[in-house]
Amino acid sequence: MDLGGHSLLMTRLMLEVRKLFQVTFKMREFFGASTLSQFAVLIDKHRQQQSISAEMHQPALPARSGEWARQRMIFLAREAELPQYLAPARGLTYSPGGPLQTVFLTGATGFLGVYIVGEILKTTQAELFCLVRPKRGENSKLRIEKQMRHYDVWPQDAAWQRAWDTRLHVVEGDVTLPRMGLQDADYETLAHQVDAILHGAAHVNFIYPYEALRATNVLGLHEIIQFAFHRRIKPVHHLSTAAIWPMGVQYTFRERDSIDHYKLLNLGYDEAKWVGEKCLLHAAERGLPVARYRPGEVGGDSVTGRCVTDHFLIASIKGFLQFGAFPQLDIEVDVAPVDYVAKATVYMAFHRQPIGRAFHLTNPSRRTMRQALAFLRSLGYQFIELPFEVLRDRLVSSPDFASNALFAYQAALEDMNDVSMQLPTYDTRDAQHELEGSGIVCAPADEKLFETYFNYLRGSGFMPDPATQIAWEGIHA
Ligand SMILES: NC(=O)c1ccc[n+]([C@@H]2O[C@H](COP(=O)([O-])OP(=O)(O)OC[C@H]3O[C@@H](n4cnc5c(N)ncnc54)[C@H](OP(=O)(O)O)[C@@H]3O)[C@@H](O)[C@H]2O)c1
Repeated sequence: MDLGGHSLLMTRLMLEVRKLFQVTFKMREFFGASTLSQFAVLIDKHRQQQSISAEMHQPALPARSGEWARQRMIFLAREAELPQYLAPARGLTYSPGGPLQTVFLTGATGFLGVYIVGEILKTTQAELFCLVRPKRGENSKLRIEKQMRHYDVWPQDAAWQRAWDTRLHVVEGDVTLPRMGLQDADYETLAHQVDAILHGAAHVNFIYPYEALRATNVLGLHEIIQFAFHRRIKPVHHLSTAAIWPMGVQYTFRERDSIDHYKLLNLGYDEAKWVGEKCLLHAAERGLPVARYRPGEVGGDSVTGRCVTDHFLIASIKGFLQFGAFPQLDIEVDVAPVDYVAKATVYMAFHRQPIGRAFHLTNPSRRTMRQALAFLRSLGYQFIELPFEVLRDRLVSSPDFASNALFAYQAALEDMNDVSMQLPTYDTRDAQHELEGSGIVCAPADEKLFETYFNYLRGSGFMPDPATQIAWEGIHA
């Protein structure tokens, strides 16, 4: 990875090795074998297992059964147990103060992060300390500015420039390092000064297994908890995700439901975020004030449509259009614009009493998948609909799958079944209640928003026009 590895290369490498040795192993096992000799042992093991199961006419890989899911959740629950040292000093308790004056933010260079920075500087008078990973040859404050300009949220006015110059402070560090890699003096001063922590930093990757995301999304959270307990107890406002809930159209999850659901989670990322929330709940039992914000699919800006294109949902839409088929799904399309998610988070953290609670920052007003597909057809795109598993098998075995937008997600797709795309309903009543009177409203996930998003995706060249769809790779379905 340090030499330039990334998700797409990992997928290619895994597929090449599988083909070469005629074995089938998962991305998770691939990551687990961290030396060449361990990797050789893994391949041998699979070859032996396959020949035994072939002799016994058994499938080589166990299905992801209910029992498998239960065992996996037991493992994840164990992962979430906190070490003893993550606790406040004896006698130290949280005493809520007045308005937040000094805030520590992680993830400021990220997609949501830049919107949160903008919102805090524009709507509050707080001093904002941002933890930024240093990059060789790059000024860390400039990295945030560049990202803000990239997402077109860099205000040009004098008030902004003043706030930026005087109230935004950068602290270089990394949540995977002890004490976040801060100088001792900085760590001690900030631990004393900071009124609250907004934790958005995460390894957001929908391809890697849990084990590869644990360092940032679980152990990094340990660092945040330690910092929050140090010297003075500071509330942690944590950006979690609605993906901590299992899939299944039959479910509706309320914000206050227990997260001990013992059901299968789709991706390693979902698992790592579940463990993160659970760690925080354990920290809360030890006296840490915690609020959890759960965005679902964070879509582009409601006005400009600018978004991150390497998200699974966007890759799916492009990949299915390229292939000429969508899965038949009786679900609603739940996407909430990034500006809404940032505004809601900042407003609740600064102006409400969210401690001890969780909020679904998903879209309260949605269209069905059927309506969304009708919208795509109205733009001129052509496709058929197939049961998910049929579509997935045809797609991954198609000769030009390597050029499909979903190629990098092959390992994740293989792990999915008909239920994996059945988004449950996320009840947003608590979040909506907290936002009443704030003027912060989520743009409905309707044809107007879809149009804004498609205008951006096509205008930026990411999503080809319907007229050229047929030439992408031919319609295979
Ligand atoms: N976007 C979504 O659809 C979505 C949905 C639900 C929940 N969320 C949650 O919302 C948060 C923000 O998501 P996002 O989409 O804005 O993610 P993003 O664009 O990938 O940004 C991630 C941020 O975390 C930072 N980071 C990563 N590893 C770090 C480390 N070891 N130390 C310090 N900083 C580190 C990154 O810094 P670099 O610039 O140095 O990489 C970047 O600022 C995450 O917690 C995510 O799980 C996002």
